[in-house]
Amino acid sequence: MSGPSGRLTPVVRVAPAKLNLTLAVIGRRPDGFHDLHSVFVPLALCDRLSLVASAGAADTLHVTGFPVGGPIDGADNLVLRALGATRRAVGGGWVGGPGPAPAIAARLDKRIPVAAGLGGGSSDAAAALDGALEVWGAELDGQSRLSVAAGLGSDVPFFAAGGPALVEGRGERVTPLLGLRGAPGILLVTPPVAVSTPDVFAAFAAIRGTGDGSVRLSSAHLASELGGGLGVTDLVARAGVMAAANDLLPAVALVMPELVPFRRALSRLLQRPIGLSGSGPTLWVVYPSSSDAAQAAETIKAAVADGSLTSPGDGAPFVAATTIASPTLMRGSSPGADPAAGQPRRIDQ
Ligand code: C5P
Repeated sequence: MSGPSGRLTPVVRVAPAKLNLTLAVIGRRPDGFHDLHSVFVPLALCDRLSLVASAGAADTLHVTGFPVGGPIDGADNLVLRALGATRRAVGGGWVGGPGPAPAIAARLDKRIPVAAGLGGGSSDAAAALDGALEVWGAELDGQSRLSVAAGLGSDVPFFAAGGPALVEGRGERVTPLLGLRGAPGILLVTPPVAVSTPDVFAAFAAIRGTGDGSVRLSSAHLASELGGGLGVTDLVARAGVMAAANDLLPAVALVMPELVPFRRALSRLLQRPIGLSGSGPTLWVVYPSSSDAAQAAETIKAAVADGSLTSPGDGAPFVAATTIASPTLMRGSSPGADPAAGQPRRIDQ
């Protein structure tokens, strides 16, 4: 239902986390960013964003769940930046135009750890972009959406597209990969340490300049397999290759040396290859099923509790069992699956 200032009932979006199954850094670009070749997958783990038109003078954001860190203001917070950028792109082209679209009161339930390499902030931004358009009864064509998304951050176009994808360029070239069949278990372990992405890319540039090409080959191979059709057993069989296929690993080891022995300890404990998502610090392990991943999560929590596993940082790591929100899941063909998981999802209330 729409009124003169847009939709009157809240618009809700789920904002999934992401994992980089591969991350090849091709080289540094003239704009200071790096060209990437990376297989991204959305996870069932998600934040939840609710948006409603308000009579206030400015957009507002209320956060529950994980603290986002620092004051919530329009210059830093990606949800507020996304609302502002979307309003500018829409201009007078909304249901109550030709004046600017009204303020939005946003509520964000953060369940994805912040600054973890899981893309939570970028996903929230993509959800805000999509949700604001509905609040205002506005449309943007694909190119305008992409340019708003890319202006908000390198990972935002992936979330704006939705679904597993090959991500290239700085992050703006997103090719859907629709061939994952089934729902593997994914174990996430995020130590409570902050790893700065710019610091990691700076360390990468200082030590290597470009990747050695092997990660790029692994990434291209996985992308072509996920484009054609890959079952969970085959994905699990590639865990070792995927866990090694991150060109940022040596740079992360320089920026956060404590992560190296922790990753080794996890590997010993679980007897599985341990991957790093993005620039970390989240480590991931792939399992044949969610229940296998849940069992491994219990093993880790018990080891942290009895002191046999020590996490970097102050306190216990975030440990969660989740799954890849695959196209199969999105079609709802798995029992109990969320038919729209992994995409900005419309929930009318
Ligand atoms: O675009 P975003 O704000 O997410 O990027 C954070 C930082 O990560 C950038 O400032 C840059 O240092 C680095 N980065 C990069 N190349 C990319 C993505 C991110 O160098 N493709």
